Amino acid sequence: MARMPSVSLVDASADLTSASAVVVGVLPGPDGAALAAGGEPIDAALGGRLTGALHAVGATGRPDEVIPIPTLGRAPFPLVMATGLGPDGHGPRLDTEKVRRAVGAAVRALDSIHPQHIHIAVGDDATSAAAVQGALLGAYTYTEYRSGSHRSELRRITVTVPNPKDAVTRAGIRQASVVAEAVSLTRDLVNAPPNDLYPETFAARAAEVGSAAGLDVEVLDPRALRRGGYGGILAVGSGSIRSPRLVRLVYRPARSRHRIALVGKGITFDSGGLNLKTGSSMSTMKSDMGGAAACVAAVAAIARLRIPVEVIATVPMAENMPSGSAYRPSDVVTLRGGRKIEIANTDAEGRVILADGIVRAAEDDPNALIEVSTLTGGQLVALGTRVIGAMGEPGLRDLVVSAGNSAGEALWAMPLPDELRAGLDSPVADLSTLTGDAFASMLVGGVFLREFVPGDLPWVHLDIAGPSFNSRDPYGYTPKGGTGAAVRTIIASVNALAGQAS
Ligand code: BES
Ligand code: ZN
Ligand code: ZN
Repeated sequence: MARMPSVSLVDASADLTSASAVVVGVLPGPDGAALAAGGEPIDAALGGRLTGALHAVGATGRPDEVIPIPTLGRAPFPLVMATGLGPDGHGPRLDTEKVRRAVGAAVRALDSIHPQHIHIAVGDDATSAAAVQGALLGAYTYTEYRSGSHRSELRRITVTVPNPKDAVTRAGIRQASVVAEAVSLTRDLVNAPPNDLYPETFAARAAEVGSAAGLDVEVLDPRALRRGGYGGILAVGSGSIRSPRLVRLVYRPARSRHRIALVGKGITFDSGGLNLKTGSSMSTMKSDMGGAAACVAAVAAIARLRIPVEVIATVPMAENMPSGSAYRPSDVVTLRGGRKIEIANTDAEGRVILADGIVRAAEDDPNALIEVSTLTGGQLVALGTRVIGAMGEPGLRDLVVSAGNSAGEALWAMPLPDELRAGLDSPVADLSTLTGDAFASMLVGGVFLREFVPGDLPWVHLDIAGPSFNSRDPYGYTPKGGTGAAVRTIIASVNALAGQAS
């Protein structure tokens, strides 16, 4: 990962001579755009000319509108970036996600001038942590595979807060930074090319991340997987020369009476297998490990934040490839625990490795299970590229939806209709991986996975097929490529569950 810039808190009197740019927020208003909270000292430094300048260029304050305003020698810094906070941003408090996106968009827009120091003058008591998180997320770039000149990178972010010494403010900023780092790590893992990131190397990266965060790490190789009866992970991995793995990362804080299981789909490349995908539907399939990456990054962040609840991430990893040794449609596979499933289509591979993963995770006797995967094209049909589908036990599902929403991610609860279960009956095995028709495939995925969750275990399935990878233009703090979807939701949910348990 590119080094994260340092973050320091300053008050409104800070010297901004070294800043390449200062970010201010803009709100739409009845009389045109208006400066948002946090921008007043910057306006004062410019002799009150900022609002006039915004009107002169026709600023509206809508999201993703970023207007550079040169200060022409009238301020210690050369540039103001005026960034839109959107139509609903006004009110007694700024909405945290609007601040995150607006600051992220402004920082992204500065990329071309290679700033070393950016100052953020957006936000109030309640939103300064969101401003910092937006800045860190917007500053993200993936340069691992760019040869040639290494240009200077952003080193320093300063942010105006009402009281830089306040302990609560500082803790909030630290938490926002740790979470942003987890999102960046997830983006890095998703962006890594599949010729370099395959089950063995992904497991090694996960182990490294886990050890650095003080977690217990266990990696099961194919021999251990055979001994453990993980027939699903082995079947999906059998077509690739890159053998599968199962990674377990355990965070065990001193006093915890609550245990949360995380499970994430780690298909390092999904070609579809013998049911080969078409070229265009295969093009983004290095991202089919986005759920696994989110779980790995989240459990490490949870440990860094010392959230007082035990968390165990169980992450199956495989590459889905066609070959003479590949698993076939019609194969019957025996999963850990003994259940036998009939493979309807080798491209529905996620649920096969997840079934093994869920069975293993449930053996730890957790109090809740959160499973995250790029599971179905149906998620994209139903909810598009920015809204995560949440299915499962209603209590936990709604807790996760609301925790995720508060952290700034969009999730929507989806049903698991009982009538879909009958469609999964197999003529030869205990269960088929698909129903006969293609309708409601996101829900069918959830109904299939439910079969492997013990009846009394609250669980939720998050389908992030669309949200995990952005093939379109960047927006807000979201770059092209890996987005880090679900990381903030997982961390916020574990936080909420820890609060309930204590
Ligand atoms: N990895 C895909 C789901 C996916 C699609 C993720 C688009 C991200 C973007 C999954 O393994 C898959 O291939 N699902 C198929 C199954 C079908 C062919 C039986 C689907 O949902 O279309
Ligand atoms: Zn697939
Ligand atoms: Zn897949």
